Amino acid sequence: MQGHGRCLKLFLAFALLLLQYAQGGEVDHSQRNTNATRRCIEKERQALLAFKRGLLVDEDHYLSSWGSEAQKQDCCRWIGVSCSNQTGHVIGLDLSYSLLEGKMISPKLFELQHLQHLDLTEIDFNGSQFPNFFGSLTNLRYLALSSTNFGGKFPSQVGNLTTLVYLDLSDNSFTNVENLNWLPPLLSLRYLDLSSVNLSNAFDWPEAVNKLPELTNLTLRYCDLPPPILSTLYYINFSQSLVSVELSGNDLSTSSIFLWLSNYNASLVYLGLADNLLTGSIPDVLGNMSSLAHLDLQNNQLEGGDPHSFARLCSLQTLFLLNNDLSGQLSKFVQILFPTCAQNSLEQLYLSGNNLAGSVPDLTNLSSLEDLELGFNQLSGGISESIGLMSKLQYIDFGMNSLEGVISETHFSKLSKLQYLDLSSNSLVLDIHADWIPPFQLGEIYLRSCKMGPDFPKWLQTQKEFSSLDISDAGISDIFPSWFWSLCRNVTIMNLTSNQIRGTFANLTLEFSDFPTLLLSSNKLGGPIPSFLSKALHLDLSYNKHSGSISFLCSSAAINLGFLDLSSNNVSGHVPDCLTHLENLVMLDLSNNALSGKIPTAIGSVFRIETLKLRSNRFVGQLPSSLKNCTSLVVIDVGDNKLSGPIPEWLGVSLKKLVILMLSSNHFNGSLPSQLCHLTHIQILDFSMNIISGSIPKCLTNLTTLAQKGNPSLNISHDYENSNINYADFYYDDATFMWKGEMQTYKSTLGLVKRIDLSSNKLIGEIPSEITHLVGLVSLNLSRNQLIGQITPEIGNLQLLDSLNLSRNHIDGRIPTSLARIDRLGFLDLSYNNLSGKIPVGTQLQSFDPSFYVGNLQLCGPPLKKMCADEVEKGPSEQTDFIYQEDKDELITLGFYISTGIGFAVGFWGVCGTLIFSRS
Ligand SMILES: *[C@@H]1O[C@H](CO)[C@@H](O)[C@H](O)[C@H]1NC(C)=O
Ligand SMILES: *[C@@H]1O[C@H](CO)[C@@H](O)[C@H](O)[C@H]1NC(C)=O
Ligand SMILES: *[C@@H]1O[C@H](CO)[C@@H](O)[C@H](O)[C@H]1NC(C)=O
Ligand SMILES: *[C@@H]1O[C@H](CO)[C@@H](O)[C@H](O)[C@H]1NC(C)=O
Ligand SMILES: *[C@@H]1O[C@H](CO)[C@@H](O)[C@H](O)[C@H]1NC(C)=O
Ligand SMILES: *[C@@H]1O[C@H](CO)[C@@H](O)[C@H](O)[C@H]1NC(C)=O
Ligand SMILES: *[C@@H]1O[C@H](CO)[C@@H](O)[C@H](O)[C@H]1NC(C)=O
Repeated sequence: MQGHGRCLKLFLAFALLLLQYAQGGEVDHSQRNTNATRRCIEKERQALLAFKRGLLVDEDHYLSSWGSEAQKQDCCRWIGVSCSNQTGHVIGLDLSYSLLEGKMISPKLFELQHLQHLDLTEIDFNGSQFPNFFGSLTNLRYLALSSTNFGGKFPSQVGNLTTLVYLDLSDNSFTNVENLNWLPPLLSLRYLDLSSVNLSNAFDWPEAVNKLPELTNLTLRYCDLPPPILSTLYYINFSQSLVSVELSGNDLSTSSIFLWLSNYNASLVYLGLADNLLTGSIPDVLGNMSSLAHLDLQNNQLEGGDPHSFARLCSLQTLFLLNNDLSGQLSKFVQILFPTCAQNSLEQLYLSGNNLAGSVPDLTNLSSLEDLELGFNQLSGGISESIGLMSKLQYIDFGMNSLEGVISETHFSKLSKLQYLDLSSNSLVLDIHADWIPPFQLGEIYLRSCKMGPDFPKWLQTQKEFSSLDISDAGISDIFPSWFWSLCRNVTIMNLTSNQIRGTFANLTLEFSDFPTLLLSSNKLGGPIPSFLSKALHLDLSYNKHSGSISFLCSSAAINLGFLDLSSNNVSGHVPDCLTHLENLVMLDLSNNALSGKIPTAIGSVFRIETLKLRSNRFVGQLPSSLKNCTSLVVIDVGDNKLSGPIPEWLGVSLKKLVILMLSSNHFNGSLPSQLCHLTHIQILDFSMNIISGSIPKCLTNLTTLAQKGNPSLNISHDYENSNINYADFYYDDATFMWKGEMQTYKSTLGLVKRIDLSSNKLIGEIPSEITHLVGLVSLNLSRNQLIGQITPEIGNLQLLDSLNLSRNHIDGRIPTSLARIDRLGFLDLSYNNLSGKIPVGTQLQSFDPSFYVGNLQLCGPPLKKMCADEVEKGPSEQTDFIYQEDKDELITLGFYISTGIGFAVGFWGVCGTLIFSRS
């Protein structure tokens, strides 16, 4: 990622330079050119106007200087256009990054026969066919059509443009390219980028490239390149000029790629082979690339801890080895890497995401090092204080290791250029004097789980430029210092979760310059929530002691609020009826507070909402019918309130995307509307503890998700996007419910939980046999109703059931033997019914505590003490043997079920291996 970011920056800088060049050119004309109208050639002006007409959108009026009005006669002065100052012909057109969009390129552009430079990068041509006439713009030297969204056949007519020096056709949607035999005529070509063009059939690519004598920069990222064929490598006439080769994302695995590259040993300065399938140890041949300055091998499967080939790379400046399988001691790795020669040249060393072990050694020999990334390894032990002497360091990432020991001021003593510091998720203690004035101004600070409490770190007061701050779980139990918030004006993300920070926001106001993510969960913050926080995109104040009303939501700044979690505080009063401006709110969690009154009608105007949780408050009245406008809702949890009225039919009619619907512990009455059966995505239906009457609808079969085994996704995730501010993010839902008698919260595997809970109501009639079609069910609880009839013999179809509770009904008849065949059943309660006969013998049924069968006077057989008539004769010993042989299998829990049941989730096996059903 880092690499891409940097490349982008480089590229943008380059683009900026070009732009400046273009603008410079313009200034030139206007000074020189008082004879404006005479310089522009009419035919070319018409061609440009035709080109403009082929564009769809110009919202920003980028092309406002282009027009037929009198004062716009000179097309040479139009933005993006440059003309020859001798002939007056248009020779350059650069509209790159102009955010324009087009339906086609007008064929009239053909008139610009003198065009030498054409750059339409990132103008979106909406998949239209690449125009044929390009092949005849034979004066073109520079053609950049990256990310222009052209489709159709690959334009091999560019092979006619024999004067091309620069050709970039990357990131379009062309069909496969059969071969690159159009390429060799481009004898002047120096720069070629065909990234994301599918070249899987172009086996001749290595040869074709080798025939370009001037080529210096080759970029073929994500082209599905076939590996070079070894036998052809001998016959090609090598050009020796390649300086930069970027072949990331091609699944290249063979050593033939290095054999081919070895032709450029002397010239290569940049080599990018990220996101391939390189395996084995770091290739020796790299050591021969004597000019190499930048090497990107991230996201491969390189192994070992012996990078001796690098020892010969005396010009190496950046080394990206992130996300490989490198192992061994970091200290040894570094010793081998830079015995002498690259010591003074290396600026960026990225080794995150490997298995490197040991402590962070003295690295002061790397005297030019600016970026040091060692996160996500297995480093342990301490960090040498000598790091504080590496005065060029700008970027330190040691996050997610097992480093320990004390970090003091000395570790930073000369790091005046440091901008990025990540020491998160180690076992480090930051022991820093209260008066310390750091030599740096950090932009990003990640110190999660570094112990720095109990006092709030005072040195932060000196940091005035940070945009990211994570000091979560840092053992801080202090009052928010008054100076803190004024430093946060520019934050984009702030995570102070899981400390013991006290205090209130008092009368604080602050204008955030951005729309920040503010995570303050699990502290001891109190008092009312101030309205300036509503400018956040994501505000998490859950598990604090906030009180007062939630009128801060009425602030107009909340228009971009996407994600609000105030659960487990003590806010009270009514939810204000001012929610209409929350047009970007996607998730609202007000659970576990003291809110009262009705759920306001205005909730219906929060039309993008996907997750609504109001559990455990004091809401009264009915579910407002305006809620049916919130058709994006996936999760509704209004459990444990005082809501009443019938269960609305529109739930099933309008809210078709519902996955979780929890109305438990309220006063809902009436019967279950059959419309609920339209909820084809539903996975959790919890209406327990209400006063619902009538019978269970037979249409349950239509609940298609419940009628399917497994689930392709482990969790329930949401993407959300805010186009106002061009922001996208995602989150995972969690849900809290009664599971085997305890309240549990599930998140990472919530997608696999499928349950129906209708317990503690007044349901009557028989259990519809259709319920046995819901073969995905993991838990079924119909206890404490007035159900009658028998347990259907098909109950055994519910092979994934982990928990079945039918207790305290009036069910009669025998326990079907098929129940004994549900291997995964980990919890069964049939107590207090009218069941009779022998408890079927099976793997589980005998292992349950007898109390789960009591209250059925005519039930007999193990595990009940009461023997059945036929078994008394056989004698008791046999049965007891059986009971004790059959261990109570503690493993048969939901977790176990899930880990086996996941097999249904196609493809997840490989990724997840053994899965642990986590409870957060
Ligand atoms: C403008 O045109 C006039 C007459 O055609 C000519 O004398 C003059 O040099 C031109 N000026 C420029 C800056 O080209
Ligand atoms: C044309 O412009 C270029 C620079 O853009 C300059 O070097 C050249 O001298 C100019 N030629 C004439 C004839 O003005
Ligand atoms: C490209 O060149 C070939 C052969 O010279 C010619 O037949 C073809 O028409 C040219 N294509 C274009 C688009 O000019
Ligand atoms: C070509 O590659 C070299 C070496 O990486 C780089 O410095 C140069 O900017 C590249 N040229 C272009 C046009 O991207
Ligand atoms: C915030 O910090 C908590 C506790 O360290 C962590 O679990 C959570 O992932 C962090 N969130 C973000 C977005 O960094
Ligand atoms: C925030 O950004 C502005 C402008 O980028 C800058 O002037 C200011 O110093 C920054 N810091 C704070 C704390 O406002
Ligand atoms: C907040 O302001 C109110 C009046 O505006 C004042 O009565 C109160 O004391 C202030 N609270 C604090 C903590 O400053």
